Formats: sequence, structure tokens, C-alpha cells
Amino acid sequence: MARIRVGAADEIQPGQPAFVTHGEIEIAVFRLDDGFRAYRNRCPHQQGPVCTGPVSGTLVATADTDWRLAWVLEGRVLICPWHTMEFDLDSGRRLRGRRERLRGYPVEVESGEVFVQVGARSAPTGTRQPS
Ligand code: FES
Repeated sequence: MARIRVGAADEIQPGQPAFVTHGEIEIAVFRLDDGFRAYRNRCPHQQGPVCTGPVSGTLVATADTDWRLAWVLEGRVLICPWHTMEFDLDSGRRLRGRRERLRGYPVEVESGEVFVQVGARSAPTGTRQPS
């Protein structure tokens, strides 16, 4: 298992992931309002560079919204630039359709520096501590 330094936490801005590489693996680290998440820059659909896509929200119409269209999850949805599949940045799961999910990596913040753990067998994604 390797611990990869990403950079200073305050230099990673919402919607603008920081990229690091480990061998042939490219990883993007995203800042959310409750910490950081790290995902491999490879879409589970057709291997596109998913982490280079925009970070946005999404439209839903559910019983929670009285079946009216509502904009939700602003700043927490990653849209793959190849075929616009949407992924929840909190969990890495695809929002609609099949159960694809992004490959996530644990993130640590130590003395204001962000690190990603690569090679963990079962990787919980992200940090939950305030940044
Ligand atoms: S490769 Fe990402 S949606 Fe198709």
C-alpha cells in the first residue's frame, strides 16, 4: 500500500479536483463540504476520463419532490465527459441505471496536507472530517 501526497488541502477547491498519479493509475481528489473524496480517473462505463468532467447537481422527480422536477445535490455530482453518466461524489455510485461505481480511495488530511492511500483492499472513500 502506498501513501501519495496530493498537496495542500486549502489549494483543492470545490469542483476543481487535484490529480495525482501512481504508476499508471490517475486519481482525482475532490473537495466536498464535509471533506475530501478520491476516485480513479476511469469511468466504469467505457473507461473515459470521468474525473475531468464537470461537477454539478442533478434533476430529480421523486415522491420527496411531489413528483416535480427539483435540482438536488449541487456540487456533489460528477458528470462523465464521454457519455454524461452521473456519479454521486459522496459514494462514487452512479445515480441512475445500473450499479456502476467509481473506484474510491481513502483520503487523509494531516497538518493541512492531503494524502491518498493506494492499494487498500477495501477502500472506504474520502474523509468525513471538516477541512
Ligand atoms: S465512459 Fe463515462 S459515461 Fe461512458
